[in-house]
Amino acid sequence: MRVFDLERIRRDSPIAAIDFHAEIPSTNSRGLELAENSVSSAITDFRTPLLVLTDRQMAGRGRGQNRWWAGDGSITFSLVVDGSAIRQPTGNWPLISLATGLAVAVVVESYTLPGDVRLKWPNDVLFLGRKVSGVLVETSARRSGTFVIGVGVNVNNSFLEAPAELQSIGISLYDVLRTRTDPTDFLVGLLQQIFVQLERVSEDRTQWIEDWRKRCHLQGRSVQLSTGASAIAGVCQGIDETGALLLHTEHGIERCYGGVVTRIL
Ligand code: BTN
Repeated sequence: MRVFDLERIRRDSPIAAIDFHAEIPSTNSRGLELAENSVSSAITDFRTPLLVLTDRQMAGRGRGQNRWWAGDGSITFSLVVDGSAIRQPTGNWPLISLATGLAVAVVVESYTLPGDVRLKWPNDVLFLGRKVSGVLVETSARRSGTFVIGVGVNVNNSFLEAPAELQSIGISLYDVLRTRTDPTDFLVGLLQQIFVQLERVSEDRTQWIEDWRKRCHLQGRSVQLSTGASAIAGVCQGIDETGALLLHTEHGIERCYGGVVTRIL
């Protein structure tokens, strides 16, 4: 049986087309492939926003070398978006990633209490302190100005069935609510919310940053950020208008454009 009601998604979401697969290695890889093929005209009917959707993602990719585990019942998809339609140049991909995380947080909150959901810079959404969602934004090398926004959300899967090393790190809605969430309802709500937040990034950046900061898991906490060979330590002061993490260090405020938070005190 199909997990999603594709007709309803087409009707109620702000998307132009759906590329659906019962199973696929990675929706982001497929989104990039479609964007790149459209340049060489291997695909004539390429319309964005395009939703690449699957019932089952077999080899999901995360940030860096990470993998994304998608147990049965999780939602995994990628949105292929033309940057000019959302008024965002390629270099603004960090903002796209943060806006998508905020959209996930808003939707997950609608199933629970606001304080239960936090954002961990740059791309994690936490539910009761554990990762409920991850976002991976990539840009197409050949089709410039195109973003592939990949989202994985743990909805009806359970971390009791996850690989042992993930069991204490991840969480699903089902693990907390103990009741099944309608996947089409969730996805339609999330797609709508992603476009609301993308619009706010260009129209209402100051208030949008404030909304992100209010949910910032690191806000006011001492953190250590590893950026390849070096590490920066400081107290988190939220994010700036480019999406950089602001750390109050012994040298003053530092803007951090990338890295992995390795310690939170
Ligand atoms: C992370 O937390 O490191 C990001 C995880 C992103 C996972 C999603 S699932 C849908 C899309 N396709 C992928 O291969 N990855 C992203």
